[in-house]
Order: sequence, then C-alpha cells, then structure tokens
Amino acid sequence: MICFWHGIFQLFSGWADGPAYVTQCPILPGNSFTYRFNITGQEGTLWWHAHTSYLRATVYGALIIRPRPGRKYPFTKPKKEFPILLGEWWNANVYDVEEESLNFGGAPNISDAYTINGRLGDQFPCSANQTHTIQVEKGKTYLLRIINAALNNQFFFSIANHNMTVVAVDASYTNPYVTDVVVTGPGQTTDVLLKANQPVGDYYMAAHPYISAAGIQFVTNATVGIIQYKSSRSRNSSSTPIMPTLPAFNDTPTAHKFFSNLTGLKTGPFWVPVPTKIDEKMFITFGLGVSPCGANRNCSNSPFGTNLRFSASMNNHSFELPSTLSMLEAHYNNVSGIYTEDFPNNPPLVFDYTNSNLSFGLAFTEKSTKVKKLKFNSTVEMIFQNTALIGIENHPIHLHGFNFHVLAQGFGNYNSTEDEKKFNMDDPQERNTIGVPAGGWAVVRFRANNAGVWFMHCHLDVHMPWGLGTAFVVENGPTAATSLRPPPSDLPKC
Ligand code: C2O
Repeated sequence: MICFWHGIFQLFSGWADGPAYVTQCPILPGNSFTYRFNITGQEGTLWWHAHTSYLRATVYGALIIRPRPGRKYPFTKPKKEFPILLGEWWNANVYDVEEESLNFGGAPNISDAYTINGRLGDQFPCSANQTHTIQVEKGKTYLLRIINAALNNQFFFSIANHNMTVVAVDASYTNPYVTDVVVTGPGQTTDVLLKANQPVGDYYMAAHPYISAAGIQFVTNATVGIIQYKSSRSRNSSSTPIMPTLPAFNDTPTAHKFFSNLTGLKTGPFWVPVPTKIDEKMFITFGLGVSPCGANRNCSNSPFGTNLRFSASMNNHSFELPSTLSMLEAHYNNVSGIYTEDFPNNPPLVFDYTNSNLSFGLAFTEKSTKVKKLKFNSTVEMIFQNTALIGIENHPIHLHGFNFHVLAQGFGNYNSTEDEKKFNMDDPQERNTIGVPAGGWAVVRFRANNAGVWFMHCHLDVHMPWGLGTAFVVENGPTAATSLRPPPSDLPKC
C-alpha cells in the first residue's frame, strides 16, 4: 500500500508525495508511514489515491483545500458543497484484473460498472436503492467538486435540464465557463456551480465514458446520482427522475471543445504568469508499442504472439520503475544504478504521427529508467505529441509536484510555426493533468521550483505498467529553504 496526494505540490517535502519506487518504497502490510506536509500556494479540489498496482480502484478519496479564513472564493458563495467522485468498478479483485491484463498483454477486462461516490446507482438492479442523492433548494447555488477517480476511463458528466458553470479545474480557478457537459480524464478535477433553477423535481446526474480509442469496449449503462429539489409537499417516491442526454461515447469534438475553451482566472489568489523565457524545450511523443513478454509473465494469449506484449512509451522509452530503492532516495544519497539522466529531449522524428500505416518495427520500445534532470527554477516547455503506432488514444498525462499552463492543443502533427501562433500566453488554464487529444498534441509550460523527483505519467492505469512515463529530477535551489528536506525517519524500506 502506498498513498499519493494527487496535485498537492509537496514543496520540498517530496518524501510525502507517495508514488511507489519514485519517492518511497511501499508500506508493507502491518507497517505504517506518516505523511507530513504543508499545503502552500493552492486551494480547491484535489484527491488522494493508492499509487501502486491497481489498488487505487478502491483506495481513494477527495482532498478539499478551502480558502484560509479571511479569503473568499472568487465566485458566488455556494449554499453548500458536494464532492462527486466518479469511479470504476469490477465484480472481481482488481489485483487479479491487473494480473490478467499484464499476462494477456492487452487492455484489462472491461469494468462492470461506474460509480458516483462509490455507488453504482439505480441503473443496475443490484444497487437500485443505493443511488447517491443530493438535496438542493430551488433558487440556491451549489458547488459540485467533480473528481475522476476511475482507473482507465474518461467521462462525460451531465445533469438533466441544468447547465453548469466551471469555476476551477485541478484546484486552479478558471474564468467561469457555462456548459451542459463536463469532460474529465482520470486524475482531473472540475469544480462547477450548479444553480437549482428548474421546476421542483428529481433530476439525474449521469456519467459515461468518453472513449477515443477504436475497439475499446465499456459498460453501456451510465452511472447516475440524483439531484433532488426539496419540496414542502410530500414526495412522490415513484416518480422517475429526468435523465440527461450524454454525448456519444466517441464524441471527440465535444471533448475538445470543453478542454480547449477553459481559461485561467488571472485575478485568482495563486495565479502565476506564463514563463516567457524557456530554459528546456522538450518534444515528447507518446506511443503504444510492443515489448518482450518478460521473464515472469505468461503472454500465451497476447495478440502479438507468446513472446510479445503491449507496451507504451515516451520518446520510445518504456519506463520501468526500480524495485530495490526509490528514485528519490537514490537521488538524495547519490546512489547510482537506479535511474539514468539521459531521457531524450528531442528525439529524431522518424515517422508521421498521424499515420497509422507504419512499419511494425517502429513499435518496438526500449525499456529503461531514463529521467530528465532540471536545474532549480528552470522553465520547461513540453510539446506532447500523441502518435498512431498500434492505436490512437487520448492520454491523460499527469505531472507530480507542479501545475503547468496549457498553452494550446490540437489535432494532427504539431507544427511549431503554425501552432505557436495559437498559444494562449495571457490566461491559459493551469492543470496537473492534461488529456492530450487522440491523434493530436498539447503544449504546456511549468517552472521547476520544487526540488525532488517528480513522476510524470499517463493516468490511465493500464498504461503505467506498460511504461508511459518518465520523471524529473529537480536539483536543490541555492538555500536550505529551496532544497529538498531530509527524509523522515519512518520512511519505508524496500
Ligand atoms: Cu494521481 Cu501519479 O497519480
């Protein structure tokens, strides 16, 4: 077991970040570790989850940082706040689901249902009386803190007959954005204001997957919750709530419209301007590929034959976590042999990223633990480019330790001359997780103002063991206050 505080900066307290073998060894059964950290420079909706194997399927929760006393929300004070956690559920032990997928070499078994705050909702007979319900009063405004905690699914989320106003994403305030659908990738959070301005009655909120990859299946039933207007009349419990119409599961234009229309709130309490001078410019391709089965695996059912299985990569490297020591301990104690600092910045462009008609040989990735070393306070631009090797898919990429500005996103191959003109340098949204469009690209910038080792990976849990990740090693700053603190004495040992 191991826990991770998704989106918390952990300024100079990287020991409390949590991903297994990146900042600590796992906490073994019967043992404990106390995470100690301060929260500075951020407020809003984040969450926590297990960060080893598939354990976060059930081990997760909301983490809400309210404005400190004396500071107000930069929007109408809501009458009440409701966390809405979207999850994914298997009628099986999720560890077995993961093992089966690693042995099969392909995507995991489709989940049996999705959940809202742990409940499947009344679209499934077994949970007919367990629909998550929130009560509202007509005329009042509420804050919904929507968290996508699913392992492998992006979601469309709507409420029947109601618009929502997005006011924050990933605990960063946005300019108000009115929408009838929220699109959210695993790891992302979206805060919306909901005005109870409809006739008194019951309305479903509903979520079902947004799936960009061809051939991936999912449960057809949406998960639902109920928005129930309080009424003085006695309730007619047999009335069926009104159901919203969700976009088709593969409606990429709707997803793209939502993601690319959000902008950051420059008057927000923690707004930082976009860095204009760039120290490190990185071009990072994501690919699905193939790799050797691996000594301890049985790939007899692999779609590529018994010796090969799926892999995923950044710049053609499939990231392998160490197993004998965490990367942060190796960094702090100068232990070599745990990772290497040669993650390629700008790999040679060997293929057209939108062309799926490629030689199979290009799909072979190299397994390694390559990281990128950064000087303290350096500014980094990352151009994320999805590729079409094996399959096209939207990858929700999450960076630990930082928020980044999302400057632009689009489809096809990134073209710096044309696409730099589209950069929003004025009020871009800030995030810790970005869904890089299927068959497309996104450009983000951040300042490496936090010393430590920070994982960056696809938040589709199936892609993490396949290798879609890397890490940043950020050197100490000039003073003790800008350096990684010493490790806590109860840090688990491998
Ligand atoms: Cu929410 Cu490294 O994950």
